[in-house]
Amino acid sequence: MSDFKRTLVTTALPYANGPVHLGHLAGVYLPADIYVRYKRLKGEDIIHIGGSDEHGVPITITAEKEGISPRDVVDRYHRMNLDAFSKCYISFDYYGRTTSEVHHKTAQEFFLEIEQKGIFQQKTEKLFFDTKAGRFLSDRYVTGTCPICNNPEANGDQCEQCGTHLSPLELINPKSKLSDATPELRDTMHWYFPLGRFQEQLEAYVNTHEDEWRSNVVNYTRTWLKQGLNDRAITRDLSWGIKVPLESEEASGKVLYVWFDAVLGYISFTKEWAAERGESNLWTSYWQDPQCRLVHFIGKDNVVFHTLMFPAILMAWNEGRSNELYNLADNVPASEFMNFEGRKFSKSRNYAVYLGEFLEKFPADTLRYSIAMNYPENKDTDFSWQDFQNRTNGELADTLGNFIKRSVDFTNSKFGGVVPIDCPPHLMESFAVILTHDNDVEIDRLDNRVNLDDLIDEIGQAYEQFHFREAVSKTMDIARKANRYLTQNEPWKLIKSDRDAAAQIMSVSLNLCHTLALLFYPVIPETCNRIYAMLGFDGTIDSIIKQVVNPENSLWEQAKKPGLQKGHKLRGNSEILFTKIEDSAIAPELEKIAALLAEAEKREAGAEQERMEFKPEISFDDFQKVDLRVARVIAAEKVQKAGKLLKLQLQVGSVTKQVLAGIAKHYTPEEMIGKNVVLVANLAERSIRDEVSEGMILAVEGADGKLFVLEPSGNEINGKQIQ
Ligand code: MF3
Ligand code: ZN
Repeated sequence: MSDFKRTLVTTALPYANGPVHLGHLAGVYLPADIYVRYKRLKGEDIIHIGGSDEHGVPITITAEKEGISPRDVVDRYHRMNLDAFSKCYISFDYYGRTTSEVHHKTAQEFFLEIEQKGIFQQKTEKLFFDTKAGRFLSDRYVTGTCPICNNPEANGDQCEQCGTHLSPLELINPKSKLSDATPELRDTMHWYFPLGRFQEQLEAYVNTHEDEWRSNVVNYTRTWLKQGLNDRAITRDLSWGIKVPLESEEASGKVLYVWFDAVLGYISFTKEWAAERGESNLWTSYWQDPQCRLVHFIGKDNVVFHTLMFPAILMAWNEGRSNELYNLADNVPASEFMNFEGRKFSKSRNYAVYLGEFLEKFPADTLRYSIAMNYPENKDTDFSWQDFQNRTNGELADTLGNFIKRSVDFTNSKFGGVVPIDCPPHLMESFAVILTHDNDVEIDRLDNRVNLDDLIDEIGQAYEQFHFREAVSKTMDIARKANRYLTQNEPWKLIKSDRDAAAQIMSVSLNLCHTLALLFYPVIPETCNRIYAMLGFDGTIDSIIKQVVNPENSLWEQAKKPGLQKGHKLRGNSEILFTKIEDSAIAPELEKIAALLAEAEKREAGAEQERMEFKPEISFDDFQKVDLRVARVIAAEKVQKAGKLLKLQLQVGSVTKQVLAGIAKHYTPEEMIGKNVVLVANLAERSIRDEVSEGMILAVEGADGKLFVLEPSGNEINGKQIQ
């Protein structure tokens, strides 16, 4: 099918500053694990590398909030997440940590290579410094008033109220989050990675993959490329992180930007995996051999880091080299988001269902199945308790579980727990006939059949193309048909009149149990291991898979053929594979969700009310200080790279003024031209995104956050004062 000899799968490294939730599982770790397990069934060489992202501001902020050290934070959550993943049967070949020595060395080696090639640029910039805390403040440590919407609690990197991406320098009345002090601006030197230098190479790279990659991934990446790629600072003034590996004065107190370090974690962890196996060079077969396919599973918020930034870092490494060249990703199956009960998961808003907690109450396979069926491939999906209960009870218990148990139980009681006759392939096909002719047991009417082989190939195709929902639901279709086959043929009646016919039905059914155990293995591995044991096999699928590295006779191929011949002995007893979920088991969960939702609503209503509170009283003189004028918009255009801003040229009597207004989402430039507006004409000048704003225009927010610009009317009012 493809020319690749092996595959390296990576999953986004979750920040070790909190527990992973079901949204993470749905978008990244479960699809990756399903893909990896499918490939292992195919007998292909594949490894899954993941780990904790243990640097960066998210970690230090959590540490400060909890009054513990960053080290304590990452130790706690690394362990917690690793434990939750293993309880969910996410089968990492290696789960590393970016605080490891190997990783620090790897990231520093990359930095030095690029530094020595003279690719980095150094720039001195002004950065806020907290004199009380004695520290430079990275973006997230500064808060202040948003220049666009006046939200007094905007963050230095983004305003949560209006969504604008900000730089801390744009905030009005900036404050340090560390001490509440007003920070002062100081010079600091940083290393920049010139992404623009790789623009053409990156465009060519994306072009070669555009047919293969998901359209959202291509589109998102192209939007960035179209805007033109900028230099990105890849160092920070922080104490927690990987030290810039230079002795110079300038380098002291500086660490690598967390994203520069994190993506390289994939490489470091592959090295650690290889070393652990005692084959310390093996990692190069996965990173530096073009015959290895590289696949990054991530969420949509991480796309450009994996389609532009990481490839550019590798291009910088590869430049001018003839050996030790790194592969770039072949595919980046980024997911959309899975919401829960109609709402986005949000850790900061305490709206989340954590993986570890969930698995204390319900079995992992039921969760894996339900989430796979809600995989957010092309659009956001919604998962609910009701959906979880329905799928567990209706699909897993009543369909799959019921079919397996009835097949095994009936064989145990009527055929001494032994497969009664051989099941030649055409009998599997006789099952196929029944698929199309519901109640038709004629085995020679093969003309119109649905072929089991073809069905299995379709499922395989779906996995190859990362269509997980399609693959899993087609697998459940086979279970549904097998269950119907058994029900409609009624071997429990047939056996009284025609024992051979009943034996034939049971042989087909048991072989379908074997087929289903293999086909379902990627999504519900623990259950499939139990089915395997019930069918009388020694060893689990997990253990057998390790021995079969041969695509020709892989377990996936074996699923197409009868795997249980006459005389094969089942284990002897059966078990219930899935316990049904009673209403009473999910009732407390529904209550919890209702409480969380009520809390969220109250918060939102509270925010409404706050807005109704008036600002502190001012004197008439204070008011008189504000110079409000009628102005006319004579030109308008969008501001590059500030999606929310329009740049307006205003005629105010005999002068013109330029104003930046955060209304681009609500008005087109054309709509604004010719409008009369109310201008605050004596507001101190401000610059936003290298553009000056000489005042502001008044607007009011309507329902759904839509802004309406105030438009005064009257005769010859241009330039007149409003009083
Ligand atoms: N920690 C990041 C996040 O949670 C993801 C890092 S992915 C990697 O958004 F590529 F950097 F590893
Ligand atoms: Zn804002």
